[in-house]
Amino acid sequence: MDWMPCLLCMKQRSLNVVVLIFLLFCFVSATYGYDPLDPNGNITIRWDVILENQDSSQDVRISIVNEQLFRHVELPGWKLSWAWVGDEVIWNIEGAEATEQGNCSAFKGRQLPHCCLKEPTVIDLLPGAPYNVQVANCCKGGVLSSMVQDPVNRLAVFQMHIGSGGSNSSNLKTGMPANFSLGLRGYTCGDPVQVPPTKFYEDHGRRKTQALATWNVTCIYSQFKSSTAPTCCVSLSAFYNETIVPCPKCSCACNGQAGTGECVKPGELPPTLQQLSPHNEAPKAVVQCSDFMCPVKVHWHVKQSYKEYWRVKITVTNLNYVKNYSEWNLVVLHPNLSNVTQVFSFNYKPLNTYGNINDTGMFYGIDHYNDMLLQAGETGNVQTEMLMHKDEGIFTFREGWAFPRKISFNGDDCVMPSPDMYPRLPNTAHFHAPPSPPPFFIVFTMLLLIYFLS
Ligand SMILES: *[C@@H]1O[C@H](CO)[C@@H](O)[C@H](O)[C@H]1NC(C)=O
Ligand SMILES: *[C@@H]1O[C@H](CO)[C@@H](O)[C@H](O)[C@H]1NC(C)=O
Ligand SMILES: *[C@@H]1O[C@H](CO)[C@@H](O)[C@H](O)[C@H]1NC(C)=O
Ligand SMILES: *[C@@H]1O[C@H](CO)[C@@H](O)[C@H](O)[C@H]1NC(C)=O
Ligand SMILES: *[C@@H]1O[C@H](CO)[C@@H](O)[C@H](O)[C@H]1NC(C)=O
Ligand SMILES: *[C@@H]1O[C@H](CO)[C@@H](O)[C@H](O)[C@H]1NC(C)=O
Ligand SMILES: *[C@@H]1O[C@H](CO)[C@@H](O)[C@H](O)[C@H]1NC(C)=O
Ligand SMILES: *[C@@H]1O[C@H](CO)[C@@H](O)[C@H](O)[C@H]1NC(C)=O
Ligand SMILES: *[C@@H]1O[C@H](CO)[C@@H](O)[C@H](O)[C@H]1NC(C)=O
Ligand SMILES: *[C@@H]1O[C@H](CO)[C@@H](O)[C@H](O)[C@H]1NC(C)=O
Repeated sequence: MDWMPCLLCMKQRSLNVVVLIFLLFCFVSATYGYDPLDPNGNITIRWDVILENQDSSQDVRISIVNEQLFRHVELPGWKLSWAWVGDEVIWNIEGAEATEQGNCSAFKGRQLPHCCLKEPTVIDLLPGAPYNVQVANCCKGGVLSSMVQDPVNRLAVFQMHIGSGGSNSSNLKTGMPANFSLGLRGYTCGDPVQVPPTKFYEDHGRRKTQALATWNVTCIYSQFKSSTAPTCCVSLSAFYNETIVPCPKCSCACNGQAGTGECVKPGELPPTLQQLSPHNEAPKAVVQCSDFMCPVKVHWHVKQSYKEYWRVKITVTNLNYVKNYSEWNLVVLHPNLSNVTQVFSFNYKPLNTYGNINDTGMFYGIDHYNDMLLQAGETGNVQTEMLMHKDEGIFTFREGWAFPRKISFNGDDCVMPSPDMYPRLPNTAHFHAPPSPPPFFIVFTMLLLIYFLS
C-alpha cells in the first residue's frame, strides 16, 4: 500500500524510465528503509552498564547517537521507550525523565522509584534544566543534529539507576530490555546486540576506563514508513526559456481532495495557532492552496551563463503556516556538482557517499542568519546562488543537463517534474558559443562609452 500515492501522483504523466526508477525507489525504500544517498545512516542507542551493585541494582548510561549524514531530529524530539524483561524499575534518572511514573504502590518507604512502568518512555530534559539533574551532553529537548551539519550536537546522553521492582531485591532478573523505539515517525529499531565494551577517557585521555557491558540498538529510517505522501516538490526555470515548469500537479496531495486537510487560499488569514508545548505531537501541516499542496517547494533557476562559469539560484519556500524548519537542509544530486566553485549565503558540503564521485552535495543555512526557514506568511523562504565551472568543450545546457537529478529536503525526497517537461533551449540559439556577458559588464561598457563620447 505504501507505494500507492506515488503511483497515483504519476498517473497523469507518461510512464517513462524516470517514473519507473522512482517507483523502484518506492519499493526499495518500503522494503528495506534504505536511502541510497546515506546508505549507512542510522541512529544508534548505546546502552552501557557502568556499575553493578551488591543488591544487583545497576547504573546504566544511555547514549543516542545520530549516525546519519543529513537527517536530523527536530522538535518535539525523541521519546525513547523499551520493555523490561524482568521486574526492573528506574530509581533515579539524570539528563532525562520518564513521561509517567506508573504504579509504584509495591514500594513502601520514604522514596518512591522514578518510574515503575513495564514499558517506560523517556524524554530529554529541556535546555536549562536544574544543574543537579544534568549530565554531559543532555538536555537538548530531544533534538539531534546531523553528522555533517553539527556533529557536536548529534548526541544525547542520560544516566539511570535501575533496581528490582519486587520486594526481594536479590532476584532482579537482569537482562537487556527489548522492543526499543525512538518514538519518531519513520524509524524502526532492531534488537540489542552486545558489542565490545565502550572505553571512556579520563585524565585528558591518559587513562581509559571501560563499561562492564555494552549493547547497541540500531534504528533505521524509511521515508515511506514516515509518511505515505511526499512533503516537498521541485519547480524549474532557466534564463533561456520563459516557461516556469511548476511542481507536478498533486505532488503532495490534490487541492480539494477529501481528507487532505485544510489549505489557506491567497489573501485568506491562516488559522490561529494553538500554543504548542515542545513534547506535543508535531502539528499537521496547514499549507497554502496550490496545485501541488506541498509544505515545501524548491525552485531551481539556471540564472546565467558566463564564459567559464554558469550560475544557479536555488530558492526554498516554506508554504506551511504552522512550522518553522530549524536546521533545514537540502541534498542535491547533480552530475556537475564536482564543478561547484562558489556557493553564496548557504553552507555547502560535498557528500561523497560512493568514493570520489562527487555528484551529491548538501546545502544548509548559516547559523543565526538563515538556518531557520520561517513559516509561510513570515519571510518563509531562503535562497542561494552558486557558481559552477564549465567543462571546456563538452559543456552544454541541452538535454536538461543544467537541472538536478534529485533533491531532498530534510532527508525526504522532493517530487521532480518529469524530464520531458524541462525548460528547453530555443532551437535556433547557440548558447555556449558566445556566452552572454554578465549585466554589470554591459553597464560598465555603456558607462565607458558615455564617458568617451561626452
Ligand atoms: C550505523 O552507522 C554507522 C556510521 O555510519 C555505521 O558505521 C554502522 O555500520 C551503522 N550500523 C548499521 C547496523 O548499519
Ligand atoms: C555501537 O554504537 C556506538 C555509538 O554509535 C558506536 O560508536 C560503536 O561503533 C557501535 N559498535 C558497534 C560494534 O557497532
Ligand atoms: C516485544 O514485542 C513483542 C511483539 O509485540 C512481544 O511479543 C514481546 O513480548 C515484547 N517483549 C517484551 C520484553 O515485552
Ligand atoms: C498497583 O500494583 C499493586 C501491586 O504491585 C496492585 O495490587 C494494584 O492493584 C495496582 N494498582 C493499580 C491501580 O493497578
Ligand atoms: C530472595 O530471593 C532469593 C533467591 O531467589 C532467596 O534465596 C531469598 O530467600 C529471598 N529473600 C526473601 C527475603 O524473600
Ligand atoms: C516561527 O517563528 C516566528 C518568528 O520567530 C514566530 O513568530 C512563530 O510563532 C514561529 N512559529 C511556530 C509554528 O513555531
Ligand atoms: C569533491 O570531493 C573531494 C573529496 O572529498 C573534496 O575534497 C572536494 O572539495 C569535492 N569538490 C567539490 C567541488 O565538491
Ligand atoms: C568538473 O568535474 C569533472 C568531474 O569531477 C572534472 O573531471 C573536471 O575537470 C571538472 N571541470 C572543471 C572545469 O573544474
Ligand atoms: C555537466 O557535466 C557533463 C559531463 O562532464 C557535461 O557533458 C555537461 O555539459 C555538464 N553540464 C553542465 C550544465 O555543466
Ligand atoms: C521552453 O520550454 C518549454 C517546455 O520544455 C517548451 O515547450 C518551449 O518550446 C520552450 N520555449 C522555447 C522558446 O524554446
